[in-house]
Amino acid sequence: MHHFHYKDGEMFCEEVPLKKIAAEVGTPFYVYSAATLKRHFEVFDASFEEVPHIICFAVKANSNLAVLNLLGKLGCGADIVSGGELYRALKAGIDPKKIVYAGVGKTEEEIEFALKSDILMFNIESFQELEKINEIAGRLNKKARIALRVNPNVDPKTHPYISTGLKKNKFGIPIENAYQEYEYAASLDNIEVVGAHCHIGSQLTDVSPFVDATKIMVEMVKNLKAKGINIKYLDLGGGLGIKYNEEMPPSPKEYADKIIEVIKGLDVTLVFEPGRVIAGNAGVLVTKVLYTKETELKHFKIVDAAMNDLMRPTLYGSFHDVKPVKECNYKTVYGDIVGPICETGDFLAKDRNIPDFQQGDLIAVMSAGAYGFTMSSNYNSRPRVPEILVNKDKYYIVRRRETYDDLIGPESISEDL
Ligand code: LLP
Repeated sequence: MHHFHYKDGEMFCEEVPLKKIAAEVGTPFYVYSAATLKRHFEVFDASFEEVPHIICFAVKANSNLAVLNLLGKLGCGADIVSGGELYRALKAGIDPKKIVYAGVGKTEEEIEFALKSDILMFNIESFQELEKINEIAGRLNKKARIALRVNPNVDPKTHPYISTGLKKNKFGIPIENAYQEYEYAASLDNIEVVGAHCHIGSQLTDVSPFVDATKIMVEMVKNLKAKGINIKYLDLGGGLGIKYNEEMPPSPKEYADKIIEVIKGLDVTLVFEPGRVIAGNAGVLVTKVLYTKETELKHFKIVDAAMNDLMRPTLYGSFHDVKPVKECNYKTVYGDIVGPICETGDFLAKDRNIPDFQQGDLIAVMSAGAYGFTMSSNYNSRPRVPEILVNKDKYYIVRRRETYDDLIGPESISEDL
């Protein structure tokens, strides 16, 4: 469910025609719908209304300040994985008591920043990290609230690059070692054990791996409670998939009903870290066709957005639907939508049946609100594109287009060279 739709042959985001934004802001640009973000958060939140829970939006999916601020105002917290994400979440007004911090490589500076910010908890991924946090908390005269991120060894059946809960992955502490680690954590002076965490992967389209992982976690939490280690927060991570193409992911309600069944009777507050399911279908990337050409094998539509703007097709072979901003009766042709970057891997759509777009046409690359802008770069010295947030009949430039001066701003030429 999203708010990108056609009216009189033109694609609108809520009540704003995309062609109006293109004319005023130029292309390419990302555009997000406030109503869709809001709806996705509220549907997820309402699905768990019968149990105590906190929703921490995965900032890595979309870290724009205005997006975080909008979600924060609805009561959403943040799942962060770096000092930069913590900085953004705080600047956006997110309550630190709803911030959870995962990641296998937290630095001393980042740990100190998070301790001083009094976040809800660190999701600890290794023994050495636990010791480091204990040491820094001691130095700062604080007690660090922690959960152990447990690797339950469950196959999420998703792309290997975004599977995280298998034994062979770098994430978390193997479930076999968890009890020992918990007892050690509980014995440390500057650590307060408050939670248990797992996150098995992203873009899951089947509910059963979530159920399997939750069962393992519930069992562990019960055993820990019996040993006197009182787990107050059970953080089940993110990962619920969305529809990019033909996928049929479970709805938040279907997902919630299964989880609630498994955790029945356990006295905990659930924490969730959804990213994609909130933001993915709330955004599109709008790009313009610069040139077209035809070879013996296929049609090429050369557009002004590229792999540096949306990396998912190149990196994961991901499918993003491409729709004309102005409805057209073009025949379907076989080919690629490619960007201006000097790499064969630079494509937004490859070997697909696509409308026979013509020079000057605007194309909406769908489902680009999560892991779109956040994974963009300046490769080929391309300034990053603006982000637009639409609310009803108004749009706001919530990140301006970068300039050439922005590109070289942090650089300098040494006189000594
Ligand atoms: N929590 C943790 C600890 C995570 O590592 C992630 C995602 C999430 C939550 C949010 O997962 P979500 O609900 O968005 O599935 N760049 C990839 C996705 C990488 C996901 C990494 N971790 C992509 O474009 O598909």
